Amino acid sequence: MDHIIEVMFSENEIIKRISALGKSISKYYNQSDNNIILIGLLRGSFVFIADLCRNISIPHEVDFMTVSSYENNVHSNGKLRIIKDIHEDIKGKDVLIIEDIIDSGNTLNKVLKFLSLKGPKSLSICVLLNKLDHRKININTEWIGFTISNEFVVGYGIDYAQKYRYLPYIGKLIYKY
Ligand code: IMP
Ligand code: MG
Repeated sequence: MDHIIEVMFSENEIIKRISALGKSISKYYNQSDNNIILIGLLRGSFVFIADLCRNISIPHEVDFMTVSSYENNVHSNGKLRIIKDIHEDIKGKDVLIIEDIIDSGNTLNKVLKFLSLKGPKSLSICVLLNKLDHRKININTEWIGFTISNEFVVGYGIDYAQKYRYLPYIGKLIYKY
């Protein structure tokens, strides 16, 4: 089966939006005592966090965790598996979780609960894409790149069955039978 990929957000649109997000995040945490840490959820956020951290003008650390909440390729289920925990101690730090997409909210809800047990000073979320149609859990996402409807997207770090992460733009995946 082939896929057709239609550009949804170009490289240019993405970088403009990330520049604005970076400015807003820098301004917000400006008063903080410099204990800011970005935690990227692997693997989908790796391109996003690489661009975002270079648009945040205040000192911060970067760490990663890997979780799995998918029972198959396209739907997330309720369970969360921690495949790789963060490396740094986040106690007393301002933590900003960086995620590619929020859909049902299951993944971020579980990650929030897991990280809050580690005693951060604050815990906020920055997502690149906000899918509203299937939200099951109401979650505060302080920073959002783009809000989209229920379409399957790939590229800019985001995969379908481990494919397409390398695309420099965000594309809509169209199935061709
Ligand atoms: P949630 O747990 O239902 O909020 O789903 C969020 C997770 O599902 C994210 O970590 C994404 O990796 C993944 N996801 C949701 N929509 C898409 C998509 O359109 N393409 C690729 N991954 C997606
Ligand atoms: Mg994911």
